[in-house]
Formats: sequence, structure tokens, C-alpha cells
Amino acid sequence: MNDIAIAKDIYWVGINDRTTDLFEGLWPIKGSGISYNSYLIKGTKNILVDLSKDFQSDEYIEQISSLINLSDLDYVIVNHMEPDHTGVLRILKKIAPQIQIVCSTKAVSMLKEFYNITDGVQGVADGEKIVMGERELQFFHVPFVHWPETMVTMDTATGTLFTCDAFGGYGALQGTLFDDECGNLSFYESEALRYYANIVAKFSTPVLTAISKLSKIDVATIAPSHGLVWRKNPGRIVELYKKWAEYASNGGEPSITLLYGSMYGNTESMMNAVAQGITETGCNLEIFDVARIHPSYILPSMWKNKGIMIGAPTYEVSLFPYMQQVLEKAAIKNVKNKVSAYFGSYGWSRGAYKKVVSMTEDLKWEMTEGLEFPGGMTDELKTKGYELGQRFAKRILNK
Ligand code: FEO
Repeated sequence: MNDIAIAKDIYWVGINDRTTDLFEGLWPIKGSGISYNSYLIKGTKNILVDLSKDFQSDEYIEQISSLINLSDLDYVIVNHMEPDHTGVLRILKKIAPQIQIVCSTKAVSMLKEFYNITDGVQGVADGEKIVMGERELQFFHVPFVHWPETMVTMDTATGTLFTCDAFGGYGALQGTLFDDECGNLSFYESEALRYYANIVAKFSTPVLTAISKLSKIDVATIAPSHGLVWRKNPGRIVELYKKWAEYASNGGEPSITLLYGSMYGNTESMMNAVAQGITETGCNLEIFDVARIHPSYILPSMWKNKGIMIGAPTYEVSLFPYMQQVLEKAAIKNVKNKVSAYFGSYGWSRGAYKKVVSMTEDLKWEMTEGLEFPGGMTDELKTKGYELGQRFAKRILNK
């Protein structure tokens, strides 16, 4: 994907990563991939906005070289220090030692800590403007979207806002960079929600602060450093991010995520009864087998839905370990203001429900009720499970 202009004299020079298995060493991106979008502004001063991970660096450097001589590169804007956007900086600085690196004041010390780069670094204040050739760039600090040093950069001439992680998502580019040319927008929106729940969710209050701050500037194009460039409808991705950030305080949509794990099929059998009870109320339901589906794919549903039904057996006087793992990930990501209920089978000892109550207390979720049963299913238990599903769904629908 060479020489794609996103606005007058602004070119995408990013990298599509389809081979890294785990983003941040944690989150599976096999199958979807991710892009590290980087942009070159050409002019009497040549400016690179955000870089790439230290991955396919030769291809990255080649793309820039096809547009300018690297000895003519004047500025590098580092909106965010995380190495998926700066990994290639050290080699770039060796090839083009004349570059002036522009970053937030907070990022100056991080450049030294990550790359031992101290010369040619200029920290900018919130709202500061710098004239670079015929361009004027303005910098807005957006702390904790995603790290404390993060900023965004506005090119006032074209109305292009370079937002780095903000408004980004998983998903390598599939032949186009633009929202208006993308025939598979639902894929990118769904992968943006997964990215939000995996990476950004904990910082939802700073996201809302940043959206409010940026609403005061006139933006024509949103150019994030992951995923699509939004030039036809930049408001779409902003609205989605706003809605997702608000889930942190309002708990999400009146629908249910049903998490279950089962050792010998008894809890799964109860899950089917509970799911039937839920579905017959008309409430939307998403079901996940926690032993087989990575939390990366479960967290978006938990983030989005108000109701979390937890179905898991007792395992060694405590909770089925895969369920514990999902609830721990939810705690790390500040999944808050949920309403939950529990069901599950036990063998020689109870224990799972007690652990779920303790974990959901820590999460500050409302636990409505629990149905713990010994051994296998009976017709009476099926009825109880169905009724549990009905009661819970009605509660969620009325929230
Ligand atoms: Fe895409 Fe926070 O790095």
C-alpha cells in the first residue's frame, strides 16, 4: 500500500502486521492483524507523524524513501511512546540523525528511557502550535488515551487530526485505508470495540475528557494509528468511542453476556435451560465457553452488556479456573456497574458461588442470586434454571 494520499501532500506510510500472534504480548490478533499507521506530510519541511513497531523496518524505511530522501526528513511527531508506534525510531534516528523529534513534555524523559534519545527532542505544551514550512501543526495533550504522555496532532490546513491510539482498532488494512471505500465496515467496528475493551477501556474517563476537548476543533479527517482513516464520516468512530466510554458508568446495554464453563456437561446442561429462559423474554444474549474462547473476545461483550450471567462448576473448593481468569481480566479492565447471577454444579464440595460472590463484590457488581446444585441435572433443576434465566433477563430489560 504505497503512496496513498489521505489529504493534500499527506501520505500513509504505515505497516500492516499479519504475523504477530499477540498484540502487547497478550491479545490474539491472528486472523485479524493490525496496522501501524504512519503519515508523511511533504512540503518545504517534511514531517513524519507517528511511526511503526520495530517490524518490517526495511519496508517501512523504503516507503518513506520512495517519497522523500531521508536526509530531507525534518520532523518526527511522536504522539504516543508505546513501542508499536516508536519501535522503528532508533534505526530511523541513525539513518536520519538530523530529525527534530516533537512530543509532549511528558514523553521527553520516556524517549531517553526507551531509546536513550535525548538530542533533537522538543517537548510541546498542550495547545501549542508550531509552524513547519507551509504547515502549522497544533498539539493537544490527551493524557491516558492511552498512556499519560499521549497527545494528538492537528494539521489545520487540511483539518486532519492524527489521533494515534484514540479511535483506532484491530484489523490489518484490506486493500483500502478509508471508511468510504471499505466494504466491510462492520469488521472494523467490531474489531475497534475489541481493541477498546482490551486496550482502552480502563481509561474511559480520559477518553470522554479527550472527546469533549477535541469537539471544539474543526476536524475533517480522523487519522488514527491503527485501522481505518475516517474521512467520510469521522463522527461515526467518535460516537462509537463515546458510547463505549460511557458504558463504564452506565453499565451498558440491556442485554446479557452468559459465561459458562463445564467439566462433565452438567453446568452446560443448566446453561441451556438458563439461556432458554433468557431468550424467551426477548433479551439479547451472547454465550461464551470460557475454557475455549480467549478473554480478548469475551471482554467486548462484557463491556457492552449490562447483565453478566456466570455459569461455572466448583473446582477444588473454588471456582472453575477459566472463569476466575475471565473475571480477573474484567477486574484489570475496570468492567464496572454490571448486574450478575450465578449457576453451577458441584461434586464433593461447594465453593464456586462463594468465590464468585467475593470476586463480583470486588468488581462492585450487583449479584442478584445463585443456583448451586450437586451433580447432574433433573427436570426440577431444568425448570429452576429456566426460571432463573427469565427472572434475570426481566431484571436486565427493566434496568
Ligand atoms: Fe498503539 Fe498504546 O499503542
